[in-house]
Amino acid sequence: MITVENVYKAYGTGESKNQVLKGVSLHIVDQDFVVILGASGSGKSTLLHVISGLEPADDGEICYDARNISSMSDRELTAFRKDYIGYIFQQYFLLPNLTVDKNVRMGADLAGNRAYRKMMEAVGLADKRNKYPHELSGGEQQRVAVARALAKMPKVLYLDEPTGALDEQTGRQVLDYIMKLKGKLGFTMVMVTHNQNIADMAHTVICMNSGKIVEQYQNNQPKSAYEIAW
Ligand SMILES: Nc1ncnc2c1ncn2[C@@H]1O[C@H](COP(=O)(O)OP(=O)(O)O)[C@@H](O)[C@H]1O
Ligand SMILES: [Mg+2]
Repeated sequence: MITVENVYKAYGTGESKNQVLKGVSLHIVDQDFVVILGASGSGKSTLLHVISGLEPADDGEICYDARNISSMSDRELTAFRKDYIGYIFQQYFLLPNLTVDKNVRMGADLAGNRAYRKMMEAVGLADKRNKYPHELSGGEQQRVAVARALAKMPKVLYLDEPTGALDEQTGRQVLDYIMKLKGKLGFTMVMVTHNQNIADMAHTVICMNSGKIVEQYQNNQPKSAYEIAW
């Protein structure tokens, strides 16, 4: 269970202070698939940074079961993130000078996982092992990023607009690979997006507006990546 209680986060100070998160509380149960929906600028990326420990909150608490990450030292937080958290961004962020194989292996090495090549097979990229990121399409690069994030077997996978840079067909394909891996590995998944259609895939949908949560509901019959509108 991830428990977020009354979290605040601002950027800047004085007259240029931008209060981005304005008292966010939410609970995420293990193995759930949560989509956080909101318009651009509503604070979705900031919320994901703060929940995952990438950036500190100004106020409030974030707990993973009994572990309060808000009170961890930098060292504890780094170790926690290494063990618990996978992260996927819209822009892939692969290392350009490393092959696909080495990019994924880097994720796996963090967790001492020797089966990292299985993860490349799971995203359909076993035959692209020796390519460099610039030799791959956008969808293939994002699948490498998925394999890299999951190769360290995180308990929670955070995704920030993972299909934001992809066309429809490629976007559906990437989401489908992610869902298959979720079924197999059973991690908790939290995805932020401004694409309302993707919310139809989630079990829990949380709507954000201007730094606050304004609605939350459950989908009893989530759709697949190929059933949703786009
Ligand atoms: N590192 C930062 N420094 C200053 N302002 C930021 C920073 N990150 C985000 N912001 C501001 O916070 C607000 C929310 O941004 P963000 O969390 O990225 O929203 P979203 O992901 O929903 O588009 C925006 O006004 C943005 O300009
Ligand atoms: Mg964002």
